[in-house]
Amino acid sequence: MSTHDYGSIELAVIGGTGLYKLTMLEDEKAMTAATPYGMPSGPVRIGLLGEHRIAFLARHGEDHSLPPHKVNYRANLWLLKEIGATRVLAVNAVGGIGERYAPRAIGIPDQIIDYTWGRVGTYCEEPGTDVLHVDMTEPYTPSLRAALHAAARDAGIAVVDGGCYGATQGPRLETKAEIARLRRDGCDLVGMTGMPEAGLARELGLEYASLALVANWAAGCGDAAEITMKEVHTNLDQATARIPHLIAALLQTLEHA
Ligand code: HPA
Repeated sequence: MSTHDYGSIELAVIGGTGLYKLTMLEDEKAMTAATPYGMPSGPVRIGLLGEHRIAFLARHGEDHSLPPHKVNYRANLWLLKEIGATRVLAVNAVGGIGERYAPRAIGIPDQIIDYTWGRVGTYCEEPGTDVLHVDMTEPYTPSLRAALHAAARDAGIAVVDGGCYGATQGPRLETKAEIARLRRDGCDLVGMTGMPEAGLARELGLEYASLALVANWAAGCGDAAEITMKEVHTNLDQATARIPHLIAALLQTLEHA
């Protein structure tokens, strides 16, 4: 497969819970391919947003059949790179821990702590592969974060700048004590898909940033005795509705950077 088959892809978007398609894509073509690491979560949809060519992949599959620990993060990122993407915007549903991250807020986190386990988190384990110890001081690409921030300002969309994302194993939600521990560790947000995706993107040399959509107060952080899927989906729908506008503004910002 050659990158030329798909034109120059300015941005690849990985959609999380609640974002399974970008309906505004024009001239859309779907493709998929096996990678050396297996099959990705589903088709990559490549199309135009105005004059900008972007690629979209639903992390959990278009029918949300893959739980966070079963997502083939390696195959997803590998395929996006293979078709010529150099920048990845990850959309992640999260729970809010810090008070800036109330339900329906959109955050642009700048740090991660990885609490996941048993996920393959590197491309450096096949025999004969060079072992890379990639720098993760800044796990999200600062220039892409800055572009996102500028785009949100231009589009008049409120975003919360910065914050530490705690990546948990799922698929169950956390206990109150687990969230209290994450808070003590300095986490502002909690989600199940931030890792190993960010580390793998760094190994592949991809620019990578996250839009974290707050679906609920994390366990024990709000007034509610428990987290319901109804509130999760209602809040995510609200936050997700702003994403296409934000992506369009990001493409403008990147074009003029
Ligand atoms: N915890 C972990 N992941 C999540 C949450 C949460 O409370 N809400 C949405 N994704």
